[in-house]
Amino acid sequence: MKVARDVVGVLGDAERPVVAAALLHDVGKLGCGLGTMGRVVATLAIAGTSRSTLEAWAGGRGFTGRVGRYFCHPESGALLLEAAGSDAFTVAWAREHQNPSGSWSVDARLAEVLAGADR
Ligand SMILES: [Fe+2]
Repeated sequence: MKVARDVVGVLGDAERPVVAAALLHDVGKLGCGLGTMGRVVATLAIAGTSRSTLEAWAGGRGFTGRVGRYFCHPESGALLLEAAGSDAFTVAWAREHQNPSGSWSVDARLAEVLAGADR
């Protein structure tokens, strides 16, 4: 909610898909099966593990499976939002929000506001 409030605070009368992106960009984390402490450990594990290994883990079981699904949350969230009929902007931001600044396909000004509100 703070991210959405910050986005509306910066953009004023923000468009609905942008506010939805602020609220829903991490929806893919819901399916990873990790609580707060698990996410802390997963973040450390992700830092020391290759992308290909993490992606392979995502289809597996146990803690490494949960870490892999946590790592893949942008794509899984985007797929959920797509299936729900979300706006293309909302879907794109879910998919790209963890990518480096400047590599986003969405409007750069809106992306910077969203990324800034999420820090
Ligand atoms: Fe995220």
